[in-house]
Amino acid sequence: MIVEATAPGKMILFGEHSVVYGAPAIVLAIDRRAKVHSRKRKDNKIFINADDLGFSGYFENDVYHAVRGQAWRGRNLTALNIASKKTMEKLDIKSGLDLKVRSMIPIAAGLGSSAAVCVATVAAVDKLFEGNLKKDQISKLAFEGEKIIHGSPSGVDNNISTFGGVLRFQKKDGIQRFKLKEPIQFIIGHSRRKRSTRKMVENVAHLREKNIEIVDKIIQNMGLVADQGLEALIKHDIHRLGNLMNINQGLLASLGVSTMKLETLIHTARKNGAIGAKLTGAGGGGCIIALAEEKNIPKIEKAIRRRKSDSMWVNLTYKGVEAKWVEEDGDP
Ligand code: PMV
Repeated sequence: MIVEATAPGKMILFGEHSVVYGAPAIVLAIDRRAKVHSRKRKDNKIFINADDLGFSGYFENDVYHAVRGQAWRGRNLTALNIASKKTMEKLDIKSGLDLKVRSMIPIAAGLGSSAAVCVATVAAVDKLFEGNLKKDQISKLAFEGEKIIHGSPSGVDNNISTFGGVLRFQKKDGIQRFKLKEPIQFIIGHSRRKRSTRKMVENVAHLREKNIEIVDKIIQNMGLVADQGLEALIKHDIHRLGNLMNINQGLLASLGVSTMKLETLIHTARKNGAIGAKLTGAGGGGCIIALAEEKNIPKIEKAIRRRKSDSMWVNLTYKGVEAKWVEEDGDP
C-alpha cells in the first residue's frame, strides 16, 4: 500500500495586486487537484518523480541530483524536499521517501499549483507515518515549502488548498472562511502564456511610486469591489457579481497588468454570453475567469479554445486536502 494525497487549486475572484497594499482578496478553491503518492525508502534519499512535468530526481542531504530533466529544475522540487523534511521533523521521524507528483492544475498560471502540490506532499508524508496532523498544521508546513518558491507569499494559497471553500484575506484581519448556500461555477481561460508574479508585483509598485495618489485610489476601489463582490457571492446575485468582475478588470487594466491576449479572452467570453470576466492572479499572462449561466458555458469554452487557449469548466469545491491508503499502481 502507498499513500495518496490530493489538494485543490484556487482562483482569485477579487483583490489580486490590491491585496499587496492591504485591501481584501476573495479566493475560491476549484475542483482541479494536485496528487502526491508517498512511500518509505530504506535509504535517506527524497526521491521526487514529477515525470508529467518533465523531470525527476532526488535530494540527498539537500543536494539535488537530476535523474530526468535538467538540474536547475531541482529548484522547483526544493519546495517539496523542504515540506516533506519539515513534516518528518515535526513527527520526529527520519526516513527516505519516494514521492510521485501529478497535477491537473496548470503551472505558473496563477491557479495555486505549487501550493496544492506542497499541501498534498505534507499530507502524504503525514499519513505515511500516521502523524494525524491537524489541517492548520498541514497548511503551515506547506507554507515552509511555498516560501522557497515565492519568497514571501501571503499564505492564502496554502490555506485555501488545505481547507477548500471560499476565503477572504486582508492583511489587517487575516483569513475568514465562508460557506455558500448554492454551488457556483466558472470558466477559466488559460492564455498559455507564463508570467512571473514577482515581476508583475514590481511593475505595479513602480507605477504606484510615480502616481501614488491615483494608484492608491484605484487600490481603494478594488477593495470596495472585493467586499461588495463577496456580498453578491453570498447572496448568489450572479448579475451583480459579474458586473463587479468587469469593474475589477477595468481597474486591473489601469494598473497595467492585463495583456492583449487576456483582453481578447475576456472580450471573447463576454461576447459569447459571460456576465462577467476578468484576469485572475498576477496578470501579464496566465488566466482569465468568466461567470456565465450554465447554458452559455459550452459556447464560451469553444470560443476561448478557438483563440489558441485552453478552457476549463470549474466548480467551487469545499473538499480541501485529503489523504488515504491506496493499492500500489506500479512505481510511485
Ligand atoms: O498569480 P498568483 O496566484 O501568483 O497571484 C498573485 C496575487 C498578487 O496579488 C498579484 C500577489 C500577491 O502576493 O498577493
